[in-house]
Amino acid sequence: MSYSRRKFISFLGKASLGTALVPPFLISCGNTTTPTETKNLSEEELERLKTFVLEALPASDKDDLLLAKGLDYHTIVKWGDRISDADTFGFNNDFTCFIPLDENNPKDGLLWVNHEYINSLYIAGFNYRDYENPPEHVTLEQVDKEMYNVGGSIIRIKEEHGKWKVVENDPHNRRITAKTPIKLNWDTPIKGKTTAIGTLANCSGGITPWNTFLTCEENYDDFYGETKYENNVATTVSSDYYGWERFYNHPPEHYGWVVEINPKDGAAQKHIALGRFAHECCTLYELEDKRIVAYTGDDKNNEHLYKFISSQPSSLKEGTLYVADTINGKWLALDWENQPILKKKFKDQTEVLIRAREAAKLLGATPLNRPEDIEIDPVTGHIFVSLTNNKWKDDFHGSILKIEETNGAFDALTFKASTYKAGGEATGFSCPDNLAFDHSGNLWMTSDMSGSWMNNPEKPYMPFKNNSLFVIPRYGKDAGKVIRVASAPRDAELTGPWFSPDGKTLFLSVQHPGEQTTDVNHPTSQWPFDGDNIPKPAVVAITGDLIEKMNKLNQIEG
Ligand code: FEO
Ligand code: CA
Ligand code: CA
Repeated sequence: MSYSRRKFISFLGKASLGTALVPPFLISCGNTTTPTETKNLSEEELERLKTFVLEALPASDKDDLLLAKGLDYHTIVKWGDRISDADTFGFNNDFTCFIPLDENNPKDGLLWVNHEYINSLYIAGFNYRDYENPPEHVTLEQVDKEMYNVGGSIIRIKEEHGKWKVVENDPHNRRITAKTPIKLNWDTPIKGKTTAIGTLANCSGGITPWNTFLTCEENYDDFYGETKYENNVATTVSSDYYGWERFYNHPPEHYGWVVEINPKDGAAQKHIALGRFAHECCTLYELEDKRIVAYTGDDKNNEHLYKFISSQPSSLKEGTLYVADTINGKWLALDWENQPILKKKFKDQTEVLIRAREAAKLLGATPLNRPEDIEIDPVTGHIFVSLTNNKWKDDFHGSILKIEETNGAFDALTFKASTYKAGGEATGFSCPDNLAFDHSGNLWMTSDMSGSWMNNPEKPYMPFKNNSLFVIPRYGKDAGKVIRVASAPRDAELTGPWFSPDGKTLFLSVQHPGEQTTDVNHPTSQWPFDGDNIPKPAVVAITGDLIEKMNKLNQIEG
């Protein structure tokens, strides 16, 4: 099937795009950008595009960020870098999202970066893999350092002479951490409070049509534990990972939400209406009447895919949360008032939202193999969901699920689900995670094989070597193939792909290099090789001819 550039733009048009340079909105967690290159190419340029050969990078287990021919990278910011007199850049960067300050200048703006979790070996000098020295030994001072290094960063970045740099001490530069007070956007207090302390486990995210950032709290139970229910009796189960509850009495119910951040002043709020679970991301679509549809997945084995439809314009509070029955193609309402089965089990809608996983199961939601990132195809309007794997069901390589809403209506309550692509040796990828469409509608994808299984001869991931970045071209002879274009340093995962508004830069996080290290004197990775032997998560800018050509590839069609 061929897609014309004209169709692409007309679909974006329906998405109520703002001006071309505002990273716009067709929106998302991994991001979709707007085509800005509207002029016709010269014959010569067209010929160059038509003869363009995309050379795949072979799989590699080398400790380096390797790129396919036609790509270069430079590091924008890394863990520990000073972003202002008061603050430093946090750990394990994941989702990135760039909003230009002036829509006419795509080279100067605010970058949001998630800091998902910490490696205590580097932050607190404590080895949580050393089971003879369990986390009971962690001190308040160590936990405070850990709390500072999660959450997110807002940094102003500018491109000059082809290189993106942090504008040091720009008044926008700030940190949001596990100690930042955050408003709960709900009329009923949660565990007696209207404000939560901090955000954590910030994995992927999204952008709103009103140009704010969304950051999603994923594996929140690692930090303060979780509340479990047996016959409706609640018990708080401690975290056996970081165990912050030893020092801070913050209820688990204050985490596991989608959090919105205002880029201008850092003001934050948690959106209760979108439910509480291990949110990977949150991908928004604005309907013609300005109501919002938000897709979000619960990245846990056998958990679910959700969609929120607002009843009011530009609201992430008024509306209904649905969960997917992918077998019968139905969105099921998590609506206490109108679902007797929920009324019987829960005392009110607030409780349904806090215990969304249980409510979803009562309604008959389909268990999925760890839904991760979600993107809306800017050409077809189909929704793509990475299902990363489910080892317990012998799904080691995952797949990408395609959702087609009935009649292409994002607020439809029925849909068709199918597998777009399955991971494995035949397709050349395993464990899909973040997704991003570029200006031409090519799909970019990162993989997330877990550190302890990657390059492990006893596990089924050997052929894939290190985690990678792939592109699936939409046009030409390689259309539909999965082509590796970057290979991550040892133990790392590439996350947070986001295109700059002009499509010339791909922002990308290199997360947890050297994660399998148990002895700081012998790290398993030394990336980014900045002289001190310490592996550091960092955000890079990937540029080059390959990206620019891919972003124009649609112009050879239609
Ligand atoms: Fe944090 Fe589901 O990846
Ligand atoms: Ca992820
Ligand atoms: Ca992942």
